Amino acid sequence: MARYALLTRESSNRVFGAAAPALLAAEVEALGEHLSGGLDRGEVVVFGGLSYFCFEASMVTSLDTFILSNLALARGLFEVVDGGALRPVELQPLEFFASDVVTIQRYVGKTNEQFTHLLVNLGLAASRSADARAASGERVSLLDPVSGRGSTLNRGLAYGFHVAGVEVEQANVEQCRGFLSTYLKEHRVKHKVSSERVRNGPLAGTSAFEIAIRPASDAHCQHVRVVRASTEQCPQLFPGKRFDLIVGDLPYGVHHSSKRGSGSPRSGPKAATSSRQRAGGGRVESTTGVRSPEQLVATSITRWRQVMAKGASLTLSWNVQTLSRERLGNLLTDAGFDVVIHPRSFEHVVDRQITRDLIVGRVDAV
Ligand SMILES: C[S@@+](CC[C@H](N)C(=O)[O-])C[C@H]1O[C@@H](n2cnc3c(N)ncnc32)[C@H](O)[C@@H]1O
Repeated sequence: MARYALLTRESSNRVFGAAAPALLAAEVEALGEHLSGGLDRGEVVVFGGLSYFCFEASMVTSLDTFILSNLALARGLFEVVDGGALRPVELQPLEFFASDVVTIQRYVGKTNEQFTHLLVNLGLAASRSADARAASGERVSLLDPVSGRGSTLNRGLAYGFHVAGVEVEQANVEQCRGFLSTYLKEHRVKHKVSSERVRNGPLAGTSAFEIAIRPASDAHCQHVRVVRASTEQCPQLFPGKRFDLIVGDLPYGVHHSSKRGSGSPRSGPKAATSSRQRAGGGRVESTTGVRSPEQLVATSITRWRQVMAKGASLTLSWNVQTLSRERLGNLLTDAGFDVVIHPRSFEHVVDRQITRDLIVGRVDAV
Protein backbone atom coordinates (compact mmCIF):
# COMPACT_ATOMS: atom_id res chain seq x y z
CA MET A 1 0.00 0.00 0.00
CA ALA A 2 1.19 3.52 -0.81
CA ARG A 3 0.04 6.78 0.75
CA TYR A 4 -1.77 9.23 -1.53
CA ALA A 5 -3.01 12.82 -1.29
CA LEU A 6 -5.93 14.07 -3.39
CA LEU A 7 -6.05 17.84 -3.82
CA THR A 8 -9.58 19.19 -3.28
CA ARG A 9 -11.03 20.83 -6.40
CA GLU A 10 -11.52 24.58 -6.03
CA SER A 11 -14.98 26.07 -6.51
CA SER A 12 -16.14 29.47 -7.69
CA ASN A 13 -18.99 29.19 -5.17
CA ARG A 14 -17.68 30.11 -1.71
CA VAL A 15 -20.26 28.08 0.23
CA PHE A 16 -19.80 24.96 -1.91
CA GLY A 17 -16.01 25.45 -1.69
CA ALA A 18 -16.25 25.36 2.11
CA ALA A 19 -18.11 22.02 1.94
CA ALA A 20 -15.79 20.52 -0.70
CA PRO A 21 -13.10 18.95 1.59
CA ALA A 22 -15.75 16.95 3.51
CA LEU A 23 -17.55 16.03 0.27
CA LEU A 24 -14.28 14.80 -1.26
CA ALA A 25 -13.63 12.67 1.85
CA ALA A 26 -17.17 11.23 1.60
CA GLU A 27 -16.79 10.57 -2.13
CA VAL A 28 -13.44 8.78 -1.78
CA GLU A 29 -14.61 6.70 1.20
CA ALA A 30 -17.78 5.74 -0.71
CA LEU A 31 -15.90 4.73 -3.85
CA GLY A 32 -12.98 3.26 -1.88
CA GLU A 33 -14.71 -0.10 -1.50
CA HIS A 34 -14.46 -0.49 -5.29
CA LEU A 35 -10.65 -0.07 -5.22
CA SER A 36 -8.94 -3.45 -5.61
CA GLY A 37 -7.18 -3.27 -2.24
CA GLY A 38 -9.74 -1.08 -0.48
CA LEU A 39 -8.76 2.14 1.22
CA ASP A 40 -7.27 2.77 4.66
CA ARG A 41 -6.45 5.64 7.07
CA GLY A 42 -8.39 8.31 5.19
CA GLU A 43 -8.19 11.84 6.62
CA VAL A 44 -8.58 15.47 5.53
CA VAL A 45 -5.18 17.22 5.78
CA VAL A 46 -4.06 20.81 5.03
CA PHE A 47 -0.65 21.23 3.35
CA GLY A 48 0.54 24.74 2.52
CA GLY A 49 -2.94 26.17 3.01
CA LEU A 50 -4.58 23.71 0.55
CA SER A 51 -6.94 20.92 1.56
CA TYR A 52 -6.13 17.32 0.61
CA PHE A 53 -7.71 13.97 1.36
CA CYS A 54 -4.93 11.53 2.33
CA PHE A 55 -5.35 7.77 2.35
CA GLU A 56 -3.53 4.49 1.85
CA ALA A 57 -4.36 2.28 -1.14
CA SER A 58 -2.73 0.25 -3.88
CA MET A 59 -3.35 1.55 -7.42
CA VAL A 60 -2.89 -1.64 -9.38
CA THR A 61 -5.89 -2.22 -11.66
CA SER A 62 -7.32 -0.10 -14.46
CA LEU A 63 -10.50 0.26 -12.35
CA ASP A 64 -8.42 1.82 -9.54
CA THR A 65 -6.99 4.34 -12.00
CA PHE A 66 -10.46 4.98 -13.46
CA ILE A 67 -11.98 5.69 -10.05
CA LEU A 68 -9.22 8.04 -8.86
CA SER A 69 -9.01 9.81 -12.25
CA ASN A 70 -12.70 10.67 -12.33
CA LEU A 71 -13.46 11.91 -8.83
CA ALA A 72 -15.85 14.85 -8.82
CA LEU A 73 -14.25 16.76 -5.98
CA ALA A 74 -10.53 16.10 -6.62
CA ARG A 75 -8.21 18.30 -8.68
CA GLY A 76 -5.12 16.05 -8.74
CA LEU A 77 -3.52 13.00 -7.16
CA PHE A 78 -0.08 12.80 -5.52
CA GLU A 79 1.85 9.99 -3.97
CA VAL A 80 3.24 10.98 -0.57
CA VAL A 81 6.95 10.07 -0.61
CA ASP A 82 10.15 10.72 1.38
CA GLY A 83 8.49 11.79 4.59
CA GLY A 84 6.00 14.20 3.06
CA ALA A 85 6.96 15.25 -0.50
CA LEU A 86 4.11 15.07 -3.05
CA ARG A 87 4.88 13.29 -6.33
CA PRO A 88 2.21 13.88 -9.03
CA VAL A 89 0.40 10.80 -10.34
CA GLU A 90 -0.74 10.85 -14.00
CA LEU A 91 -4.53 10.63 -14.20
CA GLN A 92 -6.74 9.64 -17.15
CA PRO A 93 -10.13 11.36 -16.84
CA LEU A 94 -12.83 9.97 -19.11
CA GLU A 95 -13.62 12.86 -21.46
CA PHE A 96 -15.87 12.26 -24.46
CA PHE A 97 -16.32 16.02 -24.42
CA ALA A 98 -14.09 18.73 -22.97
CA SER A 99 -14.98 19.82 -19.44
CA ASP A 100 -16.57 23.04 -20.78
CA VAL A 101 -19.68 21.02 -21.67
CA VAL A 102 -20.51 21.06 -17.95
CA THR A 103 -19.00 24.41 -16.96
CA ILE A 104 -20.06 26.95 -19.62
CA GLN A 105 -23.68 27.33 -18.59
CA ARG A 106 -24.55 29.62 -15.68
CA TYR A 107 -28.17 30.06 -14.62
CA VAL A 108 -30.32 30.42 -11.54
CA GLY A 109 -31.29 26.98 -10.28
CA LYS A 110 -28.36 25.15 -11.91
CA THR A 111 -27.13 22.24 -9.83
CA ASN A 112 -23.43 22.78 -9.04
CA GLU A 113 -21.51 20.83 -11.69
CA GLN A 114 -19.13 19.25 -9.19
CA PHE A 115 -22.07 18.05 -7.13
CA THR A 116 -23.79 16.73 -10.28
CA HIS A 117 -20.58 14.87 -11.11
CA LEU A 118 -20.57 13.39 -7.60
CA LEU A 119 -24.18 12.17 -8.01
CA VAL A 120 -23.30 10.47 -11.31
CA ASN A 121 -20.17 8.87 -9.83
CA LEU A 122 -22.09 7.41 -6.89
CA GLY A 123 -24.88 6.19 -9.16
CA LEU A 124 -22.37 4.61 -11.50
CA ALA A 125 -20.58 2.85 -8.63
CA ALA A 126 -23.90 1.41 -7.40
CA SER A 127 -25.15 0.25 -10.80
CA ARG A 128 -24.41 -3.36 -11.68
CA SER A 129 -26.18 -2.96 -14.99
CA ALA A 130 -23.80 -0.10 -15.90
CA ASP A 131 -20.86 -2.43 -15.15
CA ALA A 132 -22.35 -5.14 -17.35
CA ARG A 133 -23.12 -2.65 -20.12
CA ALA A 134 -19.60 -1.21 -20.11
CA ALA A 135 -18.04 -4.69 -19.95
CA SER A 136 -19.91 -5.69 -23.12
CA GLY A 137 -18.65 -2.56 -24.90
CA GLU A 138 -22.05 -0.82 -24.96
CA ARG A 139 -22.79 2.71 -23.85
CA VAL A 140 -24.27 3.17 -20.38
CA SER A 141 -27.67 4.90 -20.39
CA LEU A 142 -28.65 7.59 -17.89
CA LEU A 143 -32.02 9.20 -17.18
CA ASP A 144 -32.50 12.43 -15.23
CA PRO A 145 -36.23 12.47 -14.39
CA VAL A 146 -36.15 16.16 -13.28
CA SER A 147 -33.56 17.36 -15.77
CA GLY A 148 -33.92 21.18 -15.62
CA ARG A 149 -31.61 22.65 -18.24
CA GLY A 150 -29.52 19.50 -18.38
CA SER A 151 -26.53 19.65 -16.03
CA THR A 152 -26.75 15.89 -15.31
CA LEU A 153 -27.26 15.10 -18.99
CA ASN A 154 -24.16 17.09 -19.90
CA ARG A 155 -22.11 15.18 -17.31
CA GLY A 156 -23.45 11.91 -18.76
CA LEU A 157 -22.43 13.03 -22.25
CA ALA A 158 -18.92 13.87 -21.00
CA TYR A 159 -18.75 10.26 -19.74
CA GLY A 160 -19.89 8.91 -23.12
CA PHE A 161 -23.37 7.81 -22.00
CA HIS A 162 -26.66 7.85 -23.87
CA VAL A 163 -28.73 10.36 -21.91
CA ALA A 164 -32.42 11.12 -21.46
CA GLY A 165 -34.24 13.77 -19.48
CA VAL A 166 -37.75 14.62 -18.37
CA GLU A 167 -38.52 18.21 -17.43
CA VAL A 168 -41.86 19.83 -16.79
CA GLU A 169 -40.93 23.40 -17.78
CA GLN A 170 -40.91 24.05 -21.52
CA ALA A 171 -38.44 26.95 -21.14
CA ASN A 172 -35.89 24.64 -19.50
CA VAL A 173 -36.21 22.03 -22.25
CA GLU A 174 -35.71 24.72 -24.89
CA GLN A 175 -32.64 26.09 -23.10
CA CYS A 176 -31.24 22.56 -22.89
CA ARG A 177 -31.72 21.98 -26.62
CA GLY A 178 -30.35 25.43 -27.49
CA PHE A 179 -27.23 24.93 -25.39
CA LEU A 180 -26.44 21.45 -26.72
CA SER A 181 -27.01 22.25 -30.39
CA THR A 182 -24.90 25.44 -30.15
CA TYR A 183 -22.18 23.62 -28.23
CA LEU A 184 -21.98 20.80 -30.77
CA LYS A 185 -22.00 23.26 -33.69
CA GLU A 186 -19.27 25.44 -32.17
CA HIS A 187 -17.13 22.38 -31.37
CA ARG A 188 -17.68 21.03 -34.88
CA VAL A 189 -19.19 17.76 -33.67
CA LYS A 190 -21.48 16.17 -36.29
CA HIS A 191 -25.01 15.81 -34.97
CA LYS A 192 -28.64 15.73 -36.01
CA VAL A 193 -31.41 17.44 -34.03
CA SER A 194 -35.09 16.51 -34.34
CA SER A 195 -38.20 17.61 -32.46
CA GLU A 196 -41.69 16.26 -31.99
CA ARG A 197 -44.93 17.34 -30.35
CA VAL A 198 -47.63 14.85 -29.33
CA ARG A 199 -51.15 16.13 -30.05
CA ASN A 200 -53.35 13.11 -29.30
CA GLY A 201 -53.56 10.13 -26.95
CA PRO A 202 -52.36 9.78 -23.35
CA LEU A 203 -49.19 11.80 -24.01
CA ALA A 204 -51.00 14.71 -25.69
CA GLY A 205 -49.34 18.01 -24.81
CA THR A 206 -45.88 16.56 -24.36
CA SER A 207 -43.02 17.48 -26.65
CA ALA A 208 -39.48 16.23 -27.06
CA PHE A 209 -36.21 16.80 -28.84
CA GLU A 210 -33.60 14.25 -29.83
CA ILE A 211 -29.98 14.70 -30.80
CA ALA A 212 -27.95 11.99 -32.46
CA ILE A 213 -24.29 12.88 -31.87
CA ARG A 214 -21.85 11.56 -34.49
CA PRO A 215 -24.78 9.81 -36.23
CA ALA A 216 -22.72 8.35 -39.06
CA SER A 217 -21.52 5.36 -37.06
CA ASP A 218 -23.36 3.13 -34.56
CA ALA A 219 -20.16 2.65 -32.59
CA HIS A 220 -19.74 6.37 -32.00
CA CYS A 221 -23.33 7.59 -31.93
CA GLN A 222 -24.53 9.03 -28.63
CA HIS A 223 -28.26 9.67 -28.16
CA VAL A 224 -29.90 12.51 -26.28
CA ARG A 225 -33.66 12.59 -25.73
CA VAL A 226 -35.35 15.20 -23.56
CA VAL A 227 -39.10 15.26 -23.04
CA ARG A 228 -41.25 18.11 -21.78
CA ALA A 229 -43.62 16.19 -19.54
CA SER A 230 -44.24 15.34 -15.92
CA THR A 231 -41.89 12.76 -14.51
CA GLU A 232 -44.48 10.20 -13.42
CA GLN A 233 -45.15 9.64 -17.14
CA CYS A 234 -41.72 7.98 -17.55
CA PRO A 235 -42.97 4.47 -18.51
CA GLN A 236 -45.11 5.91 -21.33
CA LEU A 237 -42.36 8.31 -22.43
CA PHE A 238 -39.73 5.56 -22.69
CA PRO A 239 -41.67 2.38 -23.56
CA GLY A 240 -39.52 -0.75 -23.24
CA LYS A 241 -36.46 1.31 -22.26
CA ARG A 242 -34.30 0.18 -19.31
CA PHE A 243 -31.81 2.73 -17.97
CA ASP A 244 -28.64 1.77 -16.09
CA LEU A 245 -28.80 4.75 -13.82
CA ILE A 246 -31.29 7.40 -12.85
CA VAL A 247 -29.80 10.55 -11.39
CA GLY A 248 -31.79 13.61 -10.38
CA ASP A 249 -31.54 16.73 -8.26
CA LEU A 250 -35.08 17.04 -6.90
CA PRO A 251 -36.88 20.39 -6.72
CA TYR A 252 -35.81 21.94 -3.42
CA GLY A 253 -39.23 23.20 -2.41
CA VAL A 254 -37.96 26.80 -2.29
CA HIS A 255 -38.12 29.67 -4.77
CA HIS A 256 -34.85 30.60 -6.51
CA SER A 257 -34.13 34.30 -6.77
CA SER A 258 -34.17 35.58 -10.34
CA LYS A 259 -31.22 37.88 -9.56
CA ARG A 260 -28.21 36.44 -11.32
CA GLY A 261 -25.47 35.33 -8.94
CA SER A 262 -27.41 36.08 -5.75
CA GLY A 263 -27.68 32.35 -5.12
CA SER A 264 -30.20 32.80 -2.32
CA PRO A 265 -33.89 32.01 -2.39
CA ARG A 266 -36.19 35.00 -2.05
CA SER A 267 -39.14 33.47 -0.30
CA GLY A 268 -40.11 30.43 1.71
CA PRO A 269 -41.17 26.87 0.99
CA LYS A 270 -44.77 27.93 0.30
CA ALA A 271 -43.73 30.13 -2.61
CA ALA A 272 -41.53 27.32 -3.79
CA THR A 273 -44.40 25.15 -4.80
CA SER A 274 -46.08 27.98 -6.64
CA SER A 275 -46.99 27.17 -10.21
CA ARG A 276 -45.32 30.38 -11.38
CA GLN A 277 -41.57 30.36 -11.30
CA ARG A 278 -38.74 32.40 -12.78
CA ALA A 279 -36.28 30.48 -14.92
CA GLY A 280 -33.33 32.57 -16.13
CA GLY A 281 -35.37 35.74 -16.15
CA GLY A 282 -38.49 34.52 -17.99
CA ARG A 283 -41.71 33.59 -16.25
CA VAL A 284 -42.85 30.07 -17.01
CA GLU A 285 -46.03 28.25 -16.12
CA SER A 286 -45.93 24.89 -14.41
CA THR A 287 -48.46 22.51 -15.90
CA THR A 288 -48.40 20.12 -12.96
CA GLY A 289 -49.82 22.25 -10.19
CA VAL A 290 -48.58 22.35 -6.63
CA ARG A 291 -46.37 19.41 -5.66
CA SER A 292 -43.89 19.04 -2.81
CA PRO A 293 -40.64 17.07 -3.33
CA GLU A 294 -42.15 14.32 -1.15
CA GLN A 295 -45.32 14.14 -3.27
CA LEU A 296 -43.21 14.13 -6.42
CA VAL A 297 -41.18 11.12 -5.24
CA ALA A 298 -44.24 9.34 -3.81
CA THR A 299 -46.11 9.56 -7.11
CA SER A 300 -43.10 8.80 -9.33
CA ILE A 301 -40.89 6.26 -7.60
CA THR A 302 -42.65 3.13 -8.88
CA ARG A 303 -42.79 4.67 -12.38
CA TRP A 304 -39.05 5.36 -12.32
CA ARG A 305 -38.50 1.77 -11.23
CA GLN A 306 -40.35 0.55 -14.32
CA VAL A 307 -37.73 2.11 -16.59
CA MET A 308 -34.71 0.74 -14.69
CA ALA A 309 -32.64 -2.25 -15.79
CA LYS A 310 -32.00 -5.08 -13.36
CA GLY A 311 -29.17 -3.95 -11.03
CA ALA A 312 -29.65 -0.29 -11.99
CA SER A 313 -29.26 2.52 -9.45
CA LEU A 314 -31.29 5.58 -8.50
CA THR A 315 -29.41 8.59 -7.07
CA LEU A 316 -31.34 11.59 -5.80
CA SER A 317 -30.29 14.78 -4.08
CA TRP A 318 -32.76 16.86 -2.15
CA ASN A 319 -33.28 19.55 0.47
CA VAL A 320 -33.46 17.97 3.95
CA GLN A 321 -35.26 21.10 5.20
CA THR A 322 -38.33 20.07 3.19
CA LEU A 323 -38.08 16.26 3.36
CA SER A 324 -36.36 14.14 6.01
CA ARG A 325 -33.80 11.50 5.10
CA GLU A 326 -35.85 8.92 6.97
CA ARG A 327 -39.02 9.68 4.98
CA LEU A 328 -37.22 9.63 1.63
CA GLY A 329 -35.43 6.40 2.59
CA ASN A 330 -38.78 4.83 3.47
CA LEU A 331 -40.24 5.85 0.11
CA LEU A 332 -37.35 4.08 -1.62
CA THR A 333 -37.47 0.90 0.48
CA ASP A 334 -41.27 0.69 0.20
CA ALA A 335 -40.83 0.76 -3.59
CA GLY A 336 -38.38 -2.17 -3.40
CA PHE A 337 -35.05 -0.32 -3.48
CA ASP A 338 -32.04 -1.29 -1.35
CA VAL A 339 -30.62 1.94 0.05
CA VAL A 340 -26.81 2.09 -0.14
CA ILE A 341 -25.11 2.93 3.18
CA HIS A 342 -22.11 5.25 2.70
CA PRO A 343 -19.29 5.54 5.26
CA ARG A 344 -19.54 9.37 5.54
CA SER A 345 -22.41 11.84 5.24
CA PHE A 346 -22.82 13.99 2.11
CA GLU A 347 -25.12 16.51 3.82
CA HIS A 348 -23.98 20.11 3.30
CA VAL A 349 -25.34 23.63 3.45
CA VAL A 350 -26.23 25.32 0.13
CA ASP A 351 -27.83 28.44 1.61
CA ARG A 352 -30.17 29.50 4.42
CA GLN A 353 -33.09 27.49 3.07
CA ILE A 354 -31.35 24.56 1.45
CA THR A 355 -29.37 21.84 3.22
CA ARG A 356 -28.63 19.25 0.56
CA ASP A 357 -28.09 15.54 0.94
CA LEU A 358 -28.10 12.59 -1.42
CA ILE A 359 -29.39 9.05 -1.38
CA VAL A 360 -28.58 6.05 -3.57
CA GLY A 361 -30.88 3.06 -4.08
CA ARG A 362 -30.48 -0.05 -6.16
CA VAL A 363 -32.95 -2.48 -7.69
CA ASP A 364 -31.76 -6.02 -8.05
CA ALA A 365 -35.01 -7.35 -9.47
CA VAL A 366 -37.42 -5.65 -11.87
C1 LIG B 1 -33.34 21.26 -8.76
S1 LIG B 1 -33.98 21.43 -10.35
C2 LIG B 1 -32.89 20.47 -11.35
C3 LIG B 1 -31.85 21.35 -11.95
C4 LIG B 1 -30.99 20.64 -12.97
N1 LIG B 1 -30.20 19.61 -12.37
C5 LIG B 1 -30.10 21.68 -13.64
O1 LIG B 1 -28.96 21.88 -13.20
O2 LIG B 1 -30.58 22.36 -14.57
C6 LIG B 1 -35.44 20.42 -10.36
C7 LIG B 1 -36.18 20.44 -11.67
O3 LIG B 1 -37.33 19.59 -11.55
C8 LIG B 1 -38.33 20.11 -12.41
N2 LIG B 1 -39.61 19.49 -12.04
C9 LIG B 1 -40.43 19.80 -11.01
N3 LIG B 1 -41.52 18.99 -11.01
C10 LIG B 1 -41.38 18.16 -12.06
C11 LIG B 1 -42.16 17.10 -12.61
N4 LIG B 1 -43.32 16.75 -12.03
N5 LIG B 1 -41.72 16.46 -13.69
C12 LIG B 1 -40.54 16.81 -14.27
N6 LIG B 1 -39.77 17.80 -13.82
C13 LIG B 1 -40.17 18.47 -12.73
C14 LIG B 1 -38.24 21.60 -12.17
O4 LIG B 1 -38.85 22.33 -13.21
C15 LIG B 1 -36.72 21.80 -12.09
O5 LIG B 1 -36.19 22.14 -13.35
